This record gives sequence, C-alpha cells and structure tokens, in this order.
Amino acid sequence: MKIAILISGRGSNMQRLIDAVAAPDFPAEIVCVISNRPKAKGLAIAAEAGIPTKIIDHTVFDSRAAFDAALGDALEAAGAELVCYAGFMRILTDEFAAKWEGRMVNIHPSLLPAFKGLNVQQQALDAGVTISGCTVHYITPALDSGPIIAQAAVPVLPGDDADTLSARILKAEHQLYPQAVRMIVTGEVRFEDGRVVTAEGA
Ligand code: GRF
Repeated sequence: MKIAILISGRGSNMQRLIDAVAAPDFPAEIVCVISNRPKAKGLAIAAEAGIPTKIIDHTVFDSRAAFDAALGDALEAAGAELVCYAGFMRILTDEFAAKWEGRMVNIHPSLLPAFKGLNVQQQALDAGVTISGCTVHYITPALDSGPIIAQAAVPVLPGDDADTLSARILKAEHQLYPQAVRMIVTGEVRFEDGRVVTAEGA
C-alpha cells in the first residue's frame, strides 16, 4: 500500500512510520512526505531517508479550497492510497475530507472522544483525569471525531505539567501509530460505512 505522510513540524511520528515501513515484512511504502510549513524539521528527516518531499505552503493560497486542491493533486500524483497525518496542523475542507474518507488517518494525543482540538495535554491536566493517552482514528469532516482504530493509555502523574505529560504520551504515540498503520495495510481493520470494521479472525 502506498502511504503519504503529512507533517507541519518536528516529524517524530513520521520518523517512526518511516522506520516501521522499512521492515521487510511491512506491506507498504512511503511515497511522499508533504509539509504545509517550509521550515518543518521533519522534511530533512524524510529527505535523509530518501523519501520524496514536497512543500505546499498554505500561506500562498488565497482559500482553503485552493490549498486542498493542490494537496489533493500532489497526493494523487504520488499514487497515495493511505494518507497519514503526523502532526499536520491544517483543517481541511469538508469536501476534501469526504473525498479522502476512509483513506486518511491521524494520531491525536488524548484518549478521544475526550479533549479535542489544541493543547489537549493541558486540557487533560485541567480536567484532572488520571489516565490519558493517544488515539489513531480515521479522519472525517468533524474535527478529531472520526472512527477510532487504536488507542494507548498512559498515567497522568502527580506533578505533571503539559511538557512531562506530552513526552509520556509521545512515547506511546511512537509505539501505537506504526501498529495501527500495520493493521490497516494488512487489512486487519478497514473503514466501512463510517465505522471501523475488524477483519474476521483478526
Ligand atoms: C503529536 O503529539 C501528535 O499526536 C500531534 O502533534 C504532535 C506531532 O509531533 N497531532 P511530531 O511532529 O510527530 O513529533
């Protein structure tokens, strides 16, 4: 399966996906990494790994629709069959999300449906939860609300601040995202009628 990864910054989840997919028994290849920010650190990591990179700078487009069209063209040109958001900080139009429904996934640093949007580790601390974690989900038009593929929990410890909690969750993300993508590319899970379906016997 041909995978495209979308990033906006550091790219540590992207790095883990690149590493995982490089294993001989992982039935997928990363065909491109696209960033909406020219200075995203992850671009250099991807280039180093020999993966074609592309910058589609959202600031040069005068509408969301125009940016989405350029992104869609790039994904199609690369032959992407699965699109993995890895810290990609753009909200796309409903039309784009609908067109790619079932073929786009995201990793989010909370146990959805709790704590959507931004600064979710601080949201978790403010709410006083004692367990948080991360979620891999299909992307649908409603933000952070698509069907859940996999989750991992981590404790929220006394004395945590947003940085310490983020670091603990990020470790879990690095384990979970490659596992979840493997489940998709092997057919263990699939998107059907707006839901996640698990293959029989999986
Ligand atoms: C991760 O915490 C991810 O869950 C969130 O943005 C962060 C990206 O980090 N969507 P990185 O760029 O993968 O290091």
